[in-house]
Amino acid sequence: MNKKEEDAIIQGQSMIMQHLQSFLIGVAIRCAIEKIVDIIHNRGVPLTLTHIAHEINSPTLNLDGLSRLMRFLVRKQILDEVHEPECNEPLYVLNYCSKWLKHDERNSLAAFTMWMTHPDSTSNFLGLKQSIIEGDTAIQKTYGVELWDFVSTNPQYNRIFNEGMACFTWSTMDAILSSYEFHGVKGTSVDIGGGIGTAINDIVTKYPHIKGINFDLPHIISDAPTYQGVTHVEGDMFKAIPPANSYLIKSVLHNWDIILNPRGDGVFDDACINFDIIMFMACNIGGRERTEDEWKAILEDAQFNSSKLSRFLRTYPLWKLTMIDASKRV
Ligand SMILES: C[S@@+](CC[C@H](N)C(=O)[O-])C[C@H]1O[C@@H](n2cnc3c(N)ncnc32)[C@H](O)[C@@H]1O
Repeated sequence: MNKKEEDAIIQGQSMIMQHLQSFLIGVAIRCAIEKIVDIIHNRGVPLTLTHIAHEINSPTLNLDGLSRLMRFLVRKQILDEVHEPECNEPLYVLNYCSKWLKHDERNSLAAFTMWMTHPDSTSNFLGLKQSIIEGDTAIQKTYGVELWDFVSTNPQYNRIFNEGMACFTWSTMDAILSSYEFHGVKGTSVDIGGGIGTAINDIVTKYPHIKGINFDLPHIISDAPTYQGVTHVEGDMFKAIPPANSYLIKSVLHNWDIILNPRGDGVFDDACINFDIIMFMACNIGGRERTEDEWKAILEDAQFNSSKLSRFLRTYPLWKLTMIDASKRV
């Protein structure tokens, strides 16, 4: 074996070790969200380990464990460590990554992270092999039911799912509202599979001439807050949907507002291919991320007018969004 091959083998081993342990990053981020990020954010200044430990305020706190977690988060570039001459300990500060992990912020992914890293979300991924070999979704293999049935019978997971989805949607709504001109949307607009109504509420708030209907399954609607100008309607979209002048279908057909570019090296191309596997594992058979040509074919098949199809793809600072605006062929 020559030197080049030897190096490649070592490199391969190192890569596989990193991939195998990559779940630790999600676990550590989840842990940071539960206290550390908000402690640093609320203080508004870089904090020492001692200070963070004091604010966690647990009589049984494992300071060594906390210190190693902080080192790990810094190493993974989730937090930054700074040094100041008058302080003999390192100080921790939020960076552009951890700023997304603050609670109660419109541009936050905290609740989304709590959903994605929830044990009930991650354990269903273990059914991937069975799902590929035997058919059915991974969640069916793990829990014996499909995702929406699982959500409907687990009130606690229902809340975590709804909060996570709403959080993700909030993080995209500024981009949607600034990319798409809703002035032309008249009368009633129904958000099909609208979750707890986050998107339609934002649209109606900015465009009060639109009469908003948020349509979703009963267990989701029962968890939805009241919004001015939005009526919640429960039902099953495969049976009937409320009549309207226009329909919004966000993060449902798919899902996730993004176009698959399997070999792309864009800033969100990796996330998109991850979501494609999540769709395969968690959603009903047929859930997938699609390339631009696949979307066009779907619209053609469903007799939507592709000549009126317009696409808004922009890296508005928050998310690489794709909106498809299509009208039914007459
Ligand atoms: C990924 S979430 C998207 C939620 C929302 N559109 C958003 O972007 O925040 C998919 C939604 O579709 C809803 N859904 C699934 N099956 C449905 C059905 N048969 N009828 C109505 N809604 C359904 C789910 O309950 C869930 O709220």
